[in-house]
Amino acid sequence: MEVIVLPTPLETAALAADIIETLLRTKPDPVLGLATGSTPGPLYEELTRRHKDGGLSFTHARAFMLDEYVGLPKDHPERYAAVIQREVTDRLDIPATAVQGPDGSAEDPIAECARYEQAIIDAGGIDVQIAGIGSNGHIAFNEPGSALTSLTRPKTLNARTRQDNARFFSSLDEVPRHVLTQGLGTIGRSRHLLMLASGEGKAEAVAQALEGPLAAVCPASIVQLHRHATVLLDEAAASGL
Ligand code: GLP
Repeated sequence: MEVIVLPTPLETAALAADIIETLLRTKPDPVLGLATGSTPGPLYEELTRRHKDGGLSFTHARAFMLDEYVGLPKDHPERYAAVIQREVTDRLDIPATAVQGPDGSAEDPIAECARYEQAIIDAGGIDVQIAGIGSNGHIAFNEPGSALTSLTRPKTLNARTRQDNARFFSSLDEVPRHVLTQGLGTIGRSRHLLMLASGEGKAEAVAQALEGPLAAVCPASIVQLHRHATVLLDEAAASGL
């Protein structure tokens, strides 16, 4: 695990973009793992800038999302599929059909999770997985207590995560209670895990994940187990280390 601390989120985003740019320029069939939340925003903006100004192309790339809410209407703007469309697919030249996420409206969520897990395997696995960290130490939507070897599956959100994500909805009641998420084992299989965190609000979770025990109580601690993990922190997020 390498841990890189830079003064601001713009600088961590630039370094993360360098890693993704190298992958895109060297691999004929790159597979990206996309995360939602506010943390990867500056990275997606930097990739957009490099696409527009530097000719960085995504036409040969495929991408898989980490997670999705269950039960939001197809046209809801906070479905993660809609967020990724706004922040990534609409801005870059990656074909819309090359970006997949677990279907939160599937009639059989368990079968949908198995299908999604297999789709990642069939694509050859994820080359670079982008991930944030929840204030309670979650990664994707793997809440504390998630099995370290878990695969894509339905999960129930805990109160703190629903509270954290309520800012994207008009009320706490509107935040879904259930999600589909790649498991810790799924994320563990990615060839390079890029974990990003910024702001003081993440300092405690980052310290637990990096310096606490490898344990289900802090799902993001799987970063310690990963064969190739790069943790990119701004100074505030690193302040508990
Ligand atoms: C959500 C997402 C996670 C994300 C986390 C942190 O719960 N499912 O993938 O890492 O929020 O979000 P933010 O980056 O907005 O703090």
